[in-house]
Amino acid sequence: MMFIRSFVFFFGVLATLLLGWAALVGIPDIMISEIEPPEELERYTAEEAFGREIYIREGCVYCHSQQVRPEGFGADQERFWGRPSVPADYVYDRPHLLGTMRTGPDLLNIGVRQTSISWHMEHLYDPRLVVEGSTMPPYPWLFEVKRTAGPDDYVLDIPEDRVPDGKVVVATPEAEALVEYLLSLDRSYDSPQRVVDNDEEE
Ligand code: HEC
Repeated sequence: MMFIRSFVFFFGVLATLLLGWAALVGIPDIMISEIEPPEELERYTAEEAFGREIYIREGCVYCHSQQVRPEGFGADQERFWGRPSVPADYVYDRPHLLGTMRTGPDLLNIGVRQTSISWHMEHLYDPRLVVEGSTMPPYPWLFEVKRTAGPDDYVLDIPEDRVPDGKVVVATPEAEALVEYLLSLDRSYDSPQRVVDNDEEE
């Protein structure tokens, strides 16, 4: 009797674990395994991929999502621009950076909404230089204060009283790569997959 009970218990636990694995890992994996990369979506260049690592290292994902939700889930399309995102938009994203927090705006299409390199540079150096009252933290360690700029340096165009003794603030390779990455964020092509419309399914 004792043996049978342990047996049932053991297989009950096993079945529960397997079911959970199938529902959360196995079946979704099959569902997305046949997704083709959209033609218009380009692979990240080495520079953009490096910028993506900086984005991860600096924790940008804790305040910024990269997902535009369909109608019925909120006013994403009015607020953040673009059609609802679909799995194919993320085929080159490893790890994905969908994010769960939106202290700041969604960045999935920031490369279309804000195309100015100087805006991004100044915003990263100190967000309040370009957005009044911004609560985004500054990232000064992505920049360097120099006496004079080198021939390849990107020099920030910021008010003189923000730089001591007539020096210049230049972007480090990390800042340059991060901005390249932000500018590459563009899912403005037509949806390669059907977008689920919740209102339609009701
Ligand atoms: C503590 C939360 C927080 C963190 C961390 C953060 N941001 Fe932000 N971000 C914001 C807020 C709030 C705004 C809106 C105000 C503004 O534009 O400055 C914003 C705005 C932006 C914008 C402009 C978006 C638009 O639609 O105009 C960009 C680009 C951006 N952040 C990039 C980054 C990057 C890159 C990092 C990491 C290096 C980062 N943010 C980290 C809060 C954050």
